This record gives sequence, structure tokens and C-alpha cells, in this order.
Amino acid sequence: MKKRFAILASIACVVALFLAAGLYAGTSCPDVIEMENQEAFDGHRMPVVAFDHGTHYKADGYGIGCGECHHDENGEPLAELKEGDEAQGCFECHNGTGPGTPKDFMGPPPDAEALNSYYTAIHVNCVGCHKQQGGPVACNQCHVKPE
Ligand code: HEC
Ligand code: HEC
Ligand code: HEC
Ligand code: HEC
Repeated sequence: MKKRFAILASIACVVALFLAAGLYAGTSCPDVIEMENQEAFDGHRMPVVAFDHGTHYKADGYGIGCGECHHDENGEPLAELKEGDEAQGCFECHNGTGPGTPKDFMGPPPDAEALNSYYTAIHVNCVGCHKQQGGPVACNQCHVKPE
């Protein structure tokens, strides 16, 4: 049941993305986002990540500010965002396609050119924070094999 909800929710999120241009001002995303960007990757080699978005930002979860992850076209944090607001997908700016290698995000911070890669930007965001704040950094803790 839980799994089914996540699938439906991720469809709702995609719909929201398509309609974001006009009709659905203020559409928010579901709590759990199925991270399966099919434009960035020519098929997924790893199990798809179910990102618990809600738990990351909610006050009774980890309480992380929206601006820790969402920023503007200059990379400045969107600190004034609040629950229910729209936000751009990461791939709208970090639109370099294809997977890199773990070296791209396990080592020193990459430069702007390397960050153009969606693969690199997303891993630097997730893993970079986890290294500091204690979230998972092992591949299979995020890329969890379906039961
Ligand atoms: C820990 C990082 C993190 C935090 C904190 C966070 N988000 Fe997100 N958010 C993401 C990621 C990653 C995605 C997926 C984007 C994608 O697939 O390109 C996302 C997706 C979204 C989407 C859907 C965008 C789309 O592609 O349609 C909205 C809307 C959103 N976030 C709003 C918020 C708001 C409002 C807050 C604060 C209340 C917030 N987020 C906090 C990381 C975060
Ligand atoms: C509107 C365009 C835009 C969007 C949307 C966007 N970024 Fe960025 N991002 C940038 C720019 C510009 C920089 C600065 C690059 C530099 O440092 O030279 C940046 C920097 C970064 C960095 C390196 C600096 C840091 O904060 O650690 C990471 C990681 C990152 N983005 C991840 C993400 C993630 C994850 C998302 C989606 C939740 C996202 N970006 C959405 C434009 C964007
Ligand atoms: C700004 C900091 C930050 C960012 C960015 C972040 N996380 Fe986390 N994450 C945390 C914290 C804090 C925890 C809780 C650690 C603990 O329980 O000790 C956590 C826990 C987790 C967990 C384990 C518990 C759970 O919720 O299932 C997963 C999986 C996870 N994060 C995935 C992600 C993914 C995927 C991304 C990127 C899309 C991401 N995180 C981005 C801070 C962050
Ligand atoms: C903190 C969570 C997290 C960790 C740890 C993590 N990843 Fe990822 N990874 C993601 C997210 C989120 C995506 C984006 C998936 C999408 O949007 O399609 C991703 C995408 C990928 C992709 C491209 C999509 C695919 O399935 O082919 C590969 C390859 C990948 N990761 C490999 C790895 C490897 C190897 C490791 C360990 C060295 C690792 N990841 C560790 C969260 C994580």
C-alpha cells in the first residue's frame, strides 16, 4: 500500500510539473519523490531512489530549510520558500545528461562546469549534506533494492 502511494504520488508530481507553467500555481510535491529522471539518464542502472522530501523539510522531521537545497539561477538559496510553494526541478538548470562516476561527488567540491551534470549536482547535494549531518552515504542506502 505504501509503495502504491509513492507511485501515484510521483505521477502527481510529474503532472504538476507539466502544468506548472500556468494553471497550477502553488502546486506542492508529494512527501516521497520517486527520483527517476528519464531525461537525464538513458535508463537507470541503480535501483530508483525514493527521496523522502517531506521528512527532510518538515519541522517534525529533519527541519531542513527549503533554501538548503533549492536555489535561484545564481545559486543563491531560496530561503523564503515555504511549504506549498512551487520550485524548479534541478534538471532545469543542471541539465548535463548521463551518469558520471562516484569520484565526481566523493572527492573535493566540483567546479561550475562539472556541476552542470545532473548526476553530479544531485549527488553533491544529497551526499555532501549527509557527510556533514550524518545521513546515508553508501550507495545502497539510497539506491535501495525493491523487495
Ligand atoms: C534536502 C533537500 C530539500 C529540501 C530541504 C526541500 N527540497 Fe524540495 N526538492 C528537493 C529535490 C531533490 C527535489 C526533486 C527535484 C527534481 O526531481 O528535479 C525537490 C522537489 C520539489 C518540488 C517539485 C519540483 C518539481 O520538479 O515539480 C517542489 C514544489 C519543492 N521541492 C518545494 C520545496 C519546498 C517549498 C521546500 C521547503 C518547505 C522544499 N522543497 C525543501 C530537495 C529539497
Ligand atoms: C535556476 C537554476 C538552478 C536550479 C533550478 C538548481 N540549481 Fe543548483 N546551482 C545553480 C547555479 C547557478 C549554481 C552555482 C554554480 C557555481 O557554484 O558556480 C548551483 C550550484 C549547485 C550546487 C553546488 C553548490 C552547493 O549548493 O553545494 C549543488 C550541489 C546544486 N546546485 C544542486 C542543485 C539541486 C539538488 C537542485 C534541485 C533541488 C538545484 N541545484 C537546482 C543553478 C540551479
Ligand atoms: C541539507 C542536508 C540534507 C540534504 C541536502 C539531504 N539530506 Fe538526506 N538526510 C539528512 C539528515 C539530517 C538525515 C537524518 C540523518 C539521521 O537520522 O541521523 C537524512 C536522512 C536521509 C535518509 C535516511 C532516512 C530516510 O529518510 O530514509 C535518506 C535515504 C536520505 N536522507 C536521502 C536523501 C537524498 C536522496 C537526498 C538528495 C535528493 C538527500 N537525502 C539530501 C540531511 C540531508
Ligand atoms: C544520498 C543518496 C544517494 C547516495 C548515497 C548515492 N546516490 Fe546515486 N543517485 C541518488 C539520486 C537522488 C539520483 C538521481 C536519480 C534520478 O533522479 O533519476 C542518483 C543517481 C544515480 C545514478 C544515475 C541513475 C541510474 O540509476 O543509473 C547512478 C549511476 C548512481 N546514482 C550511482 C551511485 C553510486 C555508484 C553511489 C555510491 C558510490 C551512489 N549513487 C550513491 C542518490 C544517491
